[in-house]
Amino acid sequence: MGARSGVTGAARGCGAVILCDLKEDTMPEILVLYYSRGGSVARLARQIARGIGEVDGVSARIRTVPPVAAVTQSAAPPVPEDGAPYVEPRDLVECAGLALGSPTRFGNMAAPVKYWIDGLVGEWTSGTLVGKPAAVFTSTATMHGGQESTLLTMMVPLLHHGCVLMGIPYTEPALSTTRSGGTPYGASHVSGNNDDPQPTDEEAQLARALGRRLATLVAKVAA
Ligand SMILES: Cc1cc2nc3c(=O)[nH]c(=O)nc-3n(C[C@H](O)[C@H](O)[C@H](O)COP(=O)(O)O)c2cc1C
Repeated sequence: MGARSGVTGAARGCGAVILCDLKEDTMPEILVLYYSRGGSVARLARQIARGIGEVDGVSARIRTVPPVAAVTQSAAPPVPEDGAPYVEPRDLVECAGLALGSPTRFGNMAAPVKYWIDGLVGEWTSGTLVGKPAAVFTSTATMHGGQESTLLTMMVPLLHHGCVLMGIPYTEPALSTTRSGGTPYGASHVSGNNDDPQPTDEEAQLARALGRRLATLVAKVAA
């Protein structure tokens, strides 16, 4: 647990993820894994990573899921041109927890995320994720466009993998006051008609809170 990837989040230009690089090699890491086309889910991922970094002894490792196309089985280019590196099998083995994010596509997770999950047969049979705390996050264009259905259905395969799922309780004040994203089922953002990727203050607070909660449980499990 805690071994380093050759290419870190910060080295690849995801500046808010300095947390990935500053902490000791031995501390438990949480894999913050997402797919994002327009940047909304990417920004939530950074807030979750910030929340993780606020808990002593736990750090975040940010990775992305490659895009998929009907004509190919492999990602091209093999390394993303910017942002976080693509996830590798060892990221799942080495990480002590998982935050998984996807834009909402027709009320469900995006195909690249599902495609990545469907490739985890070896991890499923070997129990790589069994007992590891996990949480989910999403972004939609509209308020009632399927955040909850996306978050809940993203949890289903994680349950098959044995993850211990976490949400956001109403003890987080922003959950009661938000007029956009942020749900008990996970962090979220409403990007609106103009697809604005910037989270509101409350969406960001709730994403950080989810990261903190995940990291607090990971720290307890690792103790
Ligand atoms: C094919 C497709 C399907 C989508 N389906 C939904 C939907 O069901 N509900 C919704 O509110 N937004 C939907 N959207 C909008 C995205 O969820 C939204 O723009 C999101 O903020 C994108 O996240 P990203 O910037 O991280 O890529 C859809 C977008 C695309 C391209």
